[in-house]
Amino acid sequence: MTQLLPSRTSEERAKAVAEAVALLQQGEIIALPTETVYGLAADALNPIAVAKIFEAKERPRFDPLIVHLPELGWLEKIVDLGGKDRQLVLKLADRFWPGPFTIVLPRREIVPEIVTAGLDTVAVRISAHPVFSEIIRQFGKPLAAPSANRFGCVSPTSAQHVLDELNNRIPLIVDAGPTSHGIESTIVALRDGKIDILRRGPITAEELSIFGAKIDIVTKAEKISAPGQLPSHYAPKTPLQLVDNAKSFSPNEHDRVALLAWNPVETDKRFAAIRRLSEHNDMREAAANLFRYLRELDALNVDLIVAERVPEHGLGAAVMDRLKRASRVALDSRGKLE
Ligand code: TXA
Ligand code: MG
Repeated sequence: MTQLLPSRTSEERAKAVAEAVALLQQGEIIALPTETVYGLAADALNPIAVAKIFEAKERPRFDPLIVHLPELGWLEKIVDLGGKDRQLVLKLADRFWPGPFTIVLPRREIVPEIVTAGLDTVAVRISAHPVFSEIIRQFGKPLAAPSANRFGCVSPTSAQHVLDELNNRIPLIVDAGPTSHGIESTIVALRDGKIDILRRGPITAEELSIFGAKIDIVTKAEKISAPGQLPSHYAPKTPLQLVDNAKSFSPNEHDRVALLAWNPVETDKRFAAIRRLSEHNDMREAAANLFRYLRELDALNVDLIVAERVPEHGLGAAVMDRLKRASRVALDSRGKLE
């Protein structure tokens, strides 16, 4: 049985934190809230504990994990900052940590191979979530933590989502309510002062542009440098079709269709259900609602989900990235999404 512990009051929180730390020390895996999505955490330096993450998620071993650090002092124990990009890493860390931002850097020996799937780099971040921070601080060591969903499914933004997919597979979920960003952290790699964005997220290309001589969006499908970039990665089981505006959409006669709207909508007989990403077209709210609404519409067993495109700049680019993956649109020849 998976235990679900709340963390609303300070007593609840103290109990949940103590339980979480005890389980991590025993080499167990537990689901924890972060500011992006819920993560499935284990002692990053314990390969047997980390192996349990892959089993619970049914995640292929070639897909490396993000290592979350207790504080900046851990950075150089985990990665080698010897290269040319040292100053840039420290500037980025200073600006975006703790927060929804992950940097891929050359790994040190101390990081078990299973964490990095044999790569010579490791993805690192420091979470800003108060409950996560408290647990990792008390645990005192880095935590490997991918999103707490089964492989290929949509990331969980609530404790219930985690329970839906991992019940009986893990001993504990710490519930801290819905996550604030609602989409996974931005992932970057650095090359001689240039910033490659491997996964779009809450920290936008625009925000990064003042730090890098050049910003590239690289979503390499040919090489698994970020398998989160595989096109089907965020797929609901219901087919999803992207449209500019639902007004001009006409469903097939007998199809039951659900709408994920960006534009203003009224009740509409064409749709079995409607969710609007944000009533006031606030992109932060849209990102925070995205995965929850996708799950809700997916659970209705309709024939099709129609999703309206959102403006593709700033955070909207990260939302569109998830929507395109959910719609399994074709990749171009370089493996990039159109
Ligand atoms: O917001 C987040 O990043 C959440 C929370 C829990 O921290 N975590 C998360 O982890 O989204 P995960 O495992 O679901 O996605 C991490 C992505 C994967 O696509 C993985 O392939 C990529 O990071 N990754 C990990 N290590 C890498 C490396 N060394 N080089 C390139 N990509 C890497
Ligand atoms: Mg994931």
